Amino acid sequence: MDRLYSTVASVLSPASPYARDIGHLFWITFWISMVILLFVSAFVIFNLVRFRDRGEGGLPPQTHGNTVVEVTWTVVPLVILIVLFVLTVQTMAAVSPSTKTTANALNVDVVAHQWWWEFRYPDGDVVTANELHIPVGRTIHLTLTSADVIHDFWVPELGRKMDAVPGHPNTMIIQADRPGTYLGTCAEYCGTDHAWMRIRVVAQTPDAYQAWLTAQAQPHAQPANAKQAIGRGLFVGLTCSSCHTIKGSGATASKDVGPDLTHLADRDTLAAGVIANTPENLRQWLADPNSIKPGSYMPDLHLSSQQLDALVAYLEEQP
Ligand code: CUA
Repeated sequence: MDRLYSTVASVLSPASPYARDIGHLFWITFWISMVILLFVSAFVIFNLVRFRDRGEGGLPPQTHGNTVVEVTWTVVPLVILIVLFVLTVQTMAAVSPSTKTTANALNVDVVAHQWWWEFRYPDGDVVTANELHIPVGRTIHLTLTSADVIHDFWVPELGRKMDAVPGHPNTMIIQADRPGTYLGTCAEYCGTDHAWMRIRVVAQTPDAYQAWLTAQAQPHAQPANAKQAIGRGLFVGLTCSSCHTIKGSGATASKDVGPDLTHLADRDTLAAGVIANTPENLRQWLADPNSIKPGSYMPDLHLSSQQLDALVAYLEEQP
């Protein structure tokens, strides 16, 4: 069982208008800094050589006060800082929600948890976890909160960062230019599994997205065989259903402690991006969650081999 360590996502490969704005600001700042670095370095080296000690002894001529030099080294940095300040404020405005950017936006509520992400689609009666499906070319307006501590939502190729704070909704926008899977992560230390709080944004064509949303709104398939029926019985009868909801199973967790598992089989990963979603991996996750994600709040229920098989058959809709 391999953990999915690779998360190559960079602000330098923007895939949205907002990430491009941030990238532009980065490069402008970078090149201004490089010019300053080169100028200062060259000036220091020139003076080290030009005014080196040639064995004449004594101190060089001492000078005091030079209005031109003092005004120059005050005004030039001031101008540079003003330019960077104005560009930063402009970029912040461009990449944040406004009446212009959210006019035709799709709304999704994001709830951060230790250590996974919950995505709620208010327009579609759909709740999912760790994988945010979006249509390409449309601005997505996210409203972020947290169920416990402060987390931070960050998918560098699609937009800015934003804190998810308990009891204080923050909003942000993302967008994807083209279909694909964009990786992100929690960007604010939030406890043991902070590093295993991954985000996958799956950008789809509008038609594919709509089909996905419609499918997600459906209840979980009814058990198709005896094994799946046993699995559903275990899911509802054991403590699984006090933390996890599965639409159509009769299990509606009173509080969303753990991810909604209605369409778990459709997700690429388990445990917020730690392992690929395969029946074998799910079986091991259920058998010993801490061997896969140390510190996770998913308990070890000490399930028997038959119980594991039945639960996997039901959750993955396997024959
Ligand atoms: Cu959640 Cu770091």
